[in-house]
Amino acid sequence: MRVLVTGGAGYIGSHVVRQLVERGDEVVVVDDLETGDERRIPGIPIVRTELSDPAAIPVVREALSDVAAVIHFAGRKRVNESVLRPAWYYQQNVGGMANLLLAMEAVGVGSMVFSSSAAVYGTSEGDSIPESAPTNPINPYGSTKLIGERMLSDVAAVRPFRSASLRYFNVAGAGAPELGDTAVLNLVPMVFERLDAGEAPVVFGADYPTPDGTCIRDYIHVSDLAAAHLAALDAVTDGRIDGNRAFNIGTGVGSSVREMVEAIEQASGIRIEPRIVERREGDPAVVVADPSRARSELGWKARHTLQDIVSSAWRSHVLLATGGHA
Ligand SMILES: NC(=O)c1ccc[n+]([C@@H]2O[C@H](COP(=O)([O-])OP(=O)(O)OC[C@H]3O[C@@H](n4cnc5c(N)ncnc54)[C@H](O)[C@@H]3O)[C@@H](O)[C@H]2O)c1
Repeated sequence: MRVLVTGGAGYIGSHVVRQLVERGDEVVVVDDLETGDERRIPGIPIVRTELSDPAAIPVVREALSDVAAVIHFAGRKRVNESVLRPAWYYQQNVGGMANLLLAMEAVGVGSMVFSSSAAVYGTSEGDSIPESAPTNPINPYGSTKLIGERMLSDVAAVRPFRSASLRYFNVAGAGAPELGDTAVLNLVPMVFERLDAGEAPVVFGADYPTPDGTCIRDYIHVSDLAAAHLAALDAVTDGRIDGNRAFNIGTGVGSSVREMVEAIEQASGIRIEPRIVERREGDPAVVVADPSRARSELGWKARHTLQDIVSSAWRSHVLLATGGHA
């Protein structure tokens, strides 16, 4: 099938593009290359346009020719920036979704897989968060994801439209060294950055009510996450999903910050003495997915271990830090 992937030159999108091509699907990418890199997806046609610009609508309409389904990754994802520039975040992420839906409606494409986020849950915490947990985002970034999901439900209420909103937990790792995450926003890249600078990584709080006192999160290997998109795409295009359906994409297993730091120590061979500082405001103690819906309805489950995640991320970091690329 022919699939249009927005944001396909990004970290997660490029992993999905690679898996789609490997199984024989045809891919066209729409991306403004603001945080993406076309070297991640050699040989794949890229339509370069900024989705929230109304001028993108006719461009995307044309790119949708013969396309059966859309996977929508294109979005800004810096939580702190979203707090400082809320209007711009809504314009980019909500406006981008609106323009994409208008283009799809114009040509009658009615299947989508959407990059949502566990950020829609806000302060919900626990070791098995289901999709039915309250959604109460605590920053504009999370709100743009929740609004995106609602837009899909509203569209599905009035015309033939099926979508899966995948709520990612903590994504890390690399399916191939050249596809690694170059943004320093999450724990693993943040620790790597500190190590590069010869500084001690910082751990925010070691007095949480968890076995080792540090926060527990659900880390998902980006290749497992990519496989979830293919499973969701098939469920949407086979008609197994009605309307818009949310799915948690996580492992269901929590790892503490301390365990993560130890795994990085093992992968890098560098001895790490983290510096413990005060808790950060708003960080829940435990956030772990209940991924059982994705297992039963999509036939998907995560396969990689924490060590797989960290060692693949480290190999990628070493390659990208020395200027290597695909
Ligand atoms: N990485 C994570 O931990 C994580 C977690 C939850 C959800 N997500 C979501 O997954 C998606 C992909 O994330 P990623 O980590 O691959 O980020 P990324 O920045 O590497 O990829 C995003 C891609 O979309 C493009 N893009 C962004 N806004 C655009 C716009 N308005 N018009 C056209 N192109 C645009 C960028 O150039 C880039 O290629 C995002 O929507 C993000 O919010 C990511």
